[in-house]
Amino acid sequence: MNGIKNLSKTDPEITYWIKKEAKRQKEGLEMIPSENYVSPAVLEAMGSILTNKYSEGYPHKRYYGGNDNIDEIETIAQKRAKKLFKVEHVNVQPYSGSPANLAVYLAVCQPGDTIMGLDLTHGGHLTHGWKVSATGIFYKSIQYHVVNSDGKIDFVELRKLARNYKPKLIWVGATAYVYQFPFKELSDIAAECGAYLAADIAHVAGLVIAGAHPSPAKYAHIITTTTHKTLRGPRGAMIMVTKKGIVKDAELPDKIDRSIFPGLQGGPHDHTTAAIAVALKEASRVSFKKYGKQIVKNAKMLAKELIRYGFKLVGNGTENHMNLLDLTPFFGPGGGFFAQYALETAGITVNKNTIPGEPSSPFYPSGIRIGTPALTTRGFKEKEMKKVAFWMKEALEAVKEYKLPQNKEDRKAYLDKFKKKVHANKKLLKIKNEVKKFASKYPIFAG
Ligand SMILES: Cc1ncc(COP(=O)(O)O)c(C=O)c1O
Repeated sequence: MNGIKNLSKTDPEITYWIKKEAKRQKEGLEMIPSENYVSPAVLEAMGSILTNKYSEGYPHKRYYGGNDNIDEIETIAQKRAKKLFKVEHVNVQPYSGSPANLAVYLAVCQPGDTIMGLDLTHGGHLTHGWKVSATGIFYKSIQYHVVNSDGKIDFVELRKLARNYKPKLIWVGATAYVYQFPFKELSDIAAECGAYLAADIAHVAGLVIAGAHPSPAKYAHIITTTTHKTLRGPRGAMIMVTKKGIVKDAELPDKIDRSIFPGLQGGPHDHTTAAIAVALKEASRVSFKKYGKQIVKNAKMLAKELIRYGFKLVGNGTENHMNLLDLTPFFGPGGGFFAQYALETAGITVNKNTIPGEPSSPFYPSGIRIGTPALTTRGFKEKEMKKVAFWMKEALEAVKEYKLPQNKEDRKAYLDKFKKKVHANKKLLKIKNEVKKFASKYPIFAG
């Protein structure tokens, strides 16, 4: 493995686990929709000496000396993001997606103000006002939902809630949603009640740049995104203000910047800022456009094959990079756990997820979320996705007799027994071997 020569001498214990993780990433099929493989260039920027610096403040307005070089790097990152996303203002300092979203609340709301976001069990993110998140504790959160039958946002409910509650801020965006985000409809609803519209495009940012998903730039006032999902950068985030945002509130860029620093954070992670700049340059290439479009083609092929094998998909397919499998016909309520575990044993990493109208619970949900960004980075196309769909089907069939005990007391013993059986399941081990042989032929960027 490249890049850990020194580490392997000074800390064999950590080296051991990094190597094991590198092997897992190479030999398995990574299908968590929010994950990806960064390029060696992004990795080098992340691992650079920029981590040594303190730079509280913003370019040319710092609280520490010695920031001339950092000023240049941060300005380049901002310029690249502005150009790619066609926005007026960008803050590249949020430590990750969750603090970026919290900064939006801090910028445009007072504690106790009403906000609206998509319910977590219907695909929304924690930071869109879910009850256990700071965003649901410090603000009065009204959650909207999807229609159970097709998994699409319920606009009748959303419009009614927005009229009744007159929120200060509305979120559009999600963590498990298989349709393109309806930015225009949400912008009309936000306009009716005078709310700020924040588009959280964490999942689809790379698709937006590639032209494989509509851009919210014309519709939202604020856009937030993580930089480590389809955008294929380091773990980090950005907050952007659009032209429309400035028309609504000329002070919005300043409010956003002040809510990140000094409102929520101290020194920015300059090594991450540099890696974001590198990822943005990579995303400006023609090859990235092809990459983004291929992600969607791959997800559609996976959907087609899984449907052909008789699986039930929320929305009957996908318009983006992920599919949401409703496994209730297979395992009954709460079967996402069995699916995730069996697939992982077979070398395929996915995550269990709630489905619209979830009959079980977020910890024992009835679905799984499967994404194609990471496999597409490895060069997988439709042909390879057919193989992946076949292995998924085989792995799920190997455990289909399991049902989650409805009595909570009976669960632990049942699940322990399930895990033991799964580890000894010959069919799953055979798939794991096939997956390993196959996956190892497709390099991961990081090497
Ligand atoms: C839509 C959305 N927003 C925000 C986040 C939060 O990002 P982070 O995990 O970097 O805090 C996520 C993470 O999965 C997400 O899916």
